[in-house]
Amino acid sequence: MFGMPIYQYGDSSVFEFSNELTEPSVNANEVLIEIRATSVNPIDLMKREGYGRSIFEKQRNHLFPWILGCDVSGIVKKVGSKVIKFKEGDQVWGSTSSPKKGTYAEYTLFNQNEIDLKPENLSFIEAASLPYVALTTWAALIRWAALRPQDLEDKKVFVQAGSGGVGTFAIQLLRHWGAKVATTCSKENHNLVQELGAEITIDYRKEEFSDLLEGYDLVFDCLGDFGGVDSVTKCLNILKANATSHYISLNHAFIRTIDEKGLLLGLPAALKLRYQVKKSAKPINFHWSLYRPSSSGLSELGRMVRAEIIKPVIDSIYPLENIKEAHEKIATSHARGKVVIEVKKE
Ligand SMILES: NC(=O)c1ccc[n+]([C@@H]2O[C@H](COP(=O)([O-])OP(=O)(O)OC[C@H]3O[C@@H](n4cnc5c(N)ncnc54)[C@H](OP(=O)(O)O)[C@@H]3O)[C@@H](O)[C@H]2O)c1
Repeated sequence: MFGMPIYQYGDSSVFEFSNELTEPSVNANEVLIEIRATSVNPIDLMKREGYGRSIFEKQRNHLFPWILGCDVSGIVKKVGSKVIKFKEGDQVWGSTSSPKKGTYAEYTLFNQNEIDLKPENLSFIEAASLPYVALTTWAALIRWAALRPQDLEDKKVFVQAGSGGVGTFAIQLLRHWGAKVATTCSKENHNLVQELGAEITIDYRKEEFSDLLEGYDLVFDCLGDFGGVDSVTKCLNILKANATSHYISLNHAFIRTIDEKGLLLGLPAALKLRYQVKKSAKPINFHWSLYRPSSSGLSELGRMVRAEIIKPVIDSIYPLENIKEAHEKIATSHARGKVVIEVKKE
């Protein structure tokens, strides 16, 4: 099969086209998908540079070639003996964080719980833009912060970095759940985030969100540590100082600590660090969030897309051969919504 794997860690030049990759063979609970489209997420760039290697290398069958990519939309080619929900020819979508299952290639193998039937009202390109960012948001709010949709009704929520892949989805979801959303982004993206449902838009280049916001119930921080220690403190300062307030960070020291110290020493050190930051933020609930697959989350995403509650926001589309340029676009940190990769034309 063809694909754009990497053969070593490094910058965007490490991708190499290959026509001789081994087509994966299907196990009982797996589905072989002929990929039509995928997308680029910042985690792909981080993995490409070696982030998480202390964990991910142990999970891979072989180190290189390594096929990156988390999102998928495509057509089922084969199903394993225990797969009952899907059959050959079905159009599916989904996402994964497994280091064994990349999507920058002609075929990929997904566990049946990581995919669902693609909403008919989305093209393959549109469908590839949503699952990873949606399930990241889903995991953050529902799994890590243990919030329910009704908990967000009329609540004041700040989404830090609202015009990127995660932010453009999160604003739509939070708005749908009845929250009043404030967000930061560049001036030229204010119209976009307002159309998605943000009530307050702050140009972070000219204004300081912590001077403008107070008494918030939830901060969904897409910058986290990448915004600097001050930024995290400012986020905590805009929250009500009580036990119903939540701060959720998408960028934190968990995997970095494991990379620095190795799995054996790093995991307890990361857990200790997480405990300390949680304790110091009390009474505010402080969460380090990580993507987790969720078949119920994916199914609810499908329902919301079919009902046109959630719409894809696409920055640009690149053919798979131009994956290098697509990574460079994400590396600017100024994608407007999602960067999508077309693997095979519809
Ligand atoms: N923990 C997890 O499991 C997990 C999962 C997914 C993503 N993430 C992390 O979440 C972050 C967001 O992901 P993404 O896919 O949304 O990334 P993205 O699409 O690359 O985000 C780009 C957006 O960030 C905005 N931005 C950049 N600097 C900013 C600043 N100082 N203040 C406010 N906005 C700023 C840009 O806004 P303008 O162009 O308008 O300036 C742009 O729209 C990434 O760092 C990613 O690594 C973590």
